[in-house]
Amino acid sequence: MKRLASSCFVVAALAGVTGMTMGIVMAASHDHSLAPAHAHLNLLGWVSMALYGLYYHTHPQVAARPIATAQVGLAVLSVVLLIPGIVIANLGGSEIPAVVGALLALISMVMFLAITMTGFLRDAGNA
Ligand code: HEM
Ligand code: HEM
Repeated sequence: MKRLASSCFVVAALAGVTGMTMGIVMAASHDHSLAPAHAHLNLLGWVSMALYGLYYHTHPQVAARPIATAQVGLAVLSVVLLIPGIVIANLGGSEIPAVVGALLALISMVMFLAITMTGFLRDAGNA
C-alpha cells in the first residue's frame, strides 16, 4: 500500500520543516532551553517516521495490513502529544501529555517490532 509509506514521508517532512525551523530559532535567539523538544521532534518526527515509511515502501504486503495503518497512526499521535508535552513540561507545566505521548511512542514501536517480526518470518518462509 503506497499511500501508507507516502503518508509517513509527508509527516516526516512536516516534522523536519518544523524541527529545523525550531533549531534555527534556537540558534538565532541563543536560547537552547527547548533543545529536548527540538531533538525529539527531529528524531521521532523526521527520522523515525521516515524509517517507518522506508520499511512500508519496501514491504507493500505488510503495509496493506490494518495493523500497519494503526501503528503509523499511533506514531503520529505520539509525536503530536510528546513534543508539545516536552515543551509544557520544560516550562514547568504538567508532565502528563509528555508521559502519554512517550507511552504511545513506545506502544507504536512495540507494534512495529511485531509487524517486522511477522514480515521477517514470512520472508524466511518464502526463502
Ligand atoms: C536547520 C537545522 C537545525 C538547526 C539550526 C539545529 C539547531 C540546534 C541547536 C541550536 C541545538 C541546541 C544545541 C545545544 O544546546 O547544545 C540543537 C540540538 C539538537 N539537535 Fe538540532 N538543529 C537542526 C537540525 C537537527 C536535526 C535534523 C536533528 C536530528 C535529525 C537534530 C538533532 C538535535 C539533537 C539530538 C539535539 C540535542 C543535542 C544535545 O542536547 O546534546 N537537529 N539543534
Ligand atoms: C518514547 C520516546 C522517547 C522518550 C520518552 C525519550 C526521552 C528522553 C529524555 C528524558 C532525554 C533526556 C533529555 C534531557 O536530558 O534534557 C532524552 C535524550 C535524548 N534522546 Fe530521547 N526519548 C525518546 C525517544 C528517542 C529516540 C527515538 C531517539 C533517537 C532516534 C532519541 C534520542 C535522544 C537523544 C540524542 C538525546 C540526547 C539529546 C538531549 O539531551 O536532548 N530519543 N530522551
